[in-house]
Amino acid sequence: MTAALSNLDRQLVREKILEKYARVAVTPAGCFQYPTGVEGIRALGYEEEWWQDFPAEVLNSFCGVGNPFSLGQIHPGEKVVDVGCGAGFDALVAARLAGSEGEVVGVDLSPEMVGRAQAHQAALAAGRVRFLAGEAEALPVPDAWADVVLSNGVYNLTVDKEKALREAYRVLKPGGRLLLADMVLVRPLPPEQADRLDNWHR
Ligand SMILES: C[S@@+](CC[C@H](N)C(=O)[O-])C[C@H]1O[C@@H](n2cnc3c(N)ncnc32)[C@H](O)[C@@H]1O
Repeated sequence: MTAALSNLDRQLVREKILEKYARVAVTPAGCFQYPTGVEGIRALGYEEEWWQDFPAEVLNSFCGVGNPFSLGQIHPGEKVVDVGCGAGFDALVAARLAGSEGEVVGVDLSPEMVGRAQAHQAALAAGRVRFLAGEAEALPVPDAWADVVLSNGVYNLTVDKEKALREAYRVLKPGGRLLLADMVLVRPLPPEQADRLDNWHR
């Protein structure tokens, strides 16, 4: 479907995503068709020691679809980019794993989400984490900066997936790791749904 998108379609998808995540930043509960918040964190097998002392508002704002940390480890001192960081849960877990010598940058399209993530960072007094407004398709990160790019529930929302994945590759060091959790279609959509732009952000 990406190839068939006009510029107007792309703009509409982007506007709808911004609209939805401005809403989610205020009240995530009830916005998704899968478990979010602590229920999602537990169901996806995040190790409790990583997050048990996080404030409730940090946990409640989690809306990832998988557990990127189940795909590989983050080591002390590593640099990590969280693409589509939302309100910051994964980035804050990564900061804990990377430790005082590590560095984490969370990037999100939605300024409201970035604001939430910054508030969560302040509440946790987490050092060496920055949250920036930006797009998966044009990451505000230098070439070959990151040991790890992680992402959770975001690439399905990007209108140019190839460009977004090239960006992840650009910011990774040679030999860096991409830990990516996302939703995929396992069979074609019924014809009456296949062309609907609102499938992007439901
Ligand atoms: C399902 S939420 C997941 C948030 C976060 N990763 C988590 O696990 O809680 C999707 C996030 O992707 C962001 N997003 C959507 N399209 C994006 C894009 N093209 N570039 C960067 N972020 C994007 C949304 O603003 C939203 O915060």
